[in-house]
Amino acid sequence: MSFRNSIDGLNAIAERLRNVCIESLDYAECIKRYDSKDTLFYCDPPYLNAEHYYSKDSFGHDDHYKLAELLHGIKGKAMISHYQNGLYDELYKGWCRHEYSSFKGSHKSTGESKPKTVECLWTNFEREFNR
Ligand SMILES: C[S@@+](CC[C@H](N)C(=O)[O-])C[C@H]1O[C@@H](n2cnc3c(N)ncnc32)[C@H](O)[C@@H]1O
Repeated sequence: MSFRNSIDGLNAIAERLRNVCIESLDYAECIKRYDSKDTLFYCDPPYLNAEHYYSKDSFGHDDHYKLAELLHGIKGKAMISHYQNGLYDELYKGWCRHEYSSFKGSHKSTGESKPKTVECLWTNFEREFNR
């Protein structure tokens, strides 16, 4: 996409975000504050074994369990994404599981081919997603 095309798209983005409120909250506070039967939470937590990549203390291994416990108790809908892994299959057992092949995003794009990976989306509701 060119710089000109990006600028042209700004109006549509501004319009879409006109009534959107962006919060910077800990996940537990966010879930407690906004849960309702009309809420959809999309969670993209830090990756397993890379929890401290974003900041030292914001998310630890135990938070994968705490987040799952919270999401199992909500009134609303939830979807959570992660590389495929046994822990998430266990934590979200009984949820719908959707698999996608993907590329590891942080890998350099120049020259070398990006390593492939499988991303999963677990949802507490049934729905077909386009790939
Ligand atoms: C895999 S990344 C998701 C990136 C996101 N999908 C995006 O496009 O920017 C994990 C995210 O979890 C955030 N995070 C870390 N600890 C958190 C916490 N306790 N509560 C809420 N978010 C947290 C990080 O800041 C990071 O943005």
